[in-house]
Amino acid sequence: MEAGCLIEEARKAQQNSYSPYSGYKVGAALLGKSGQIYTGTNIENSSYGLSICAERTALFNAVNNGEVDFLAIAVCSNGPGYVYPCGACLQVLAEFVPDLQVIVSNEKDEFEQYLLSDLLPQAFKLSTQEG
Ligand code: THU
Repeated sequence: MEAGCLIEEARKAQQNSYSPYSGYKVGAALLGKSGQIYTGTNIENSSYGLSICAERTALFNAVNNGEVDFLAIAVCSNGPGYVYPCGACLQVLAEFVPDLQVIVSNEKDEFEQYLLSDLLPQAFKLSTQEG
């Protein structure tokens, strides 16, 4: 799967963005190991803190459909420059695939590719035992 194809899917999802408060439309496309692509967009709320990012929408969409192993996620927005997933989304993605490929794109569909573990080197892990 080429990065360009995944970005194209993210662009389609971006069109469904519900973002009347920020006007910032984000799309994400998550490629499962099965080859299936799960998309998501940001969904805002008048109680701002209840809004959800595109990346988590895509991930929850995937998990809800039984897929928990992923190869890559592509993210795009209607803003200028590359859109990097926020820390909360990185943490939630790291729960499933710490070394996920993260493809960030800009308004010209140019892209950069990172390892999730480079963007969030010390993801939180619940440790219930000492040592
Ligand atoms: N947003 C995302 O969808 N993904 C990110 O990685 C960062 C921010 C959304 C949340 C909110 O709807 C809007 O962008 C402005 O913060």
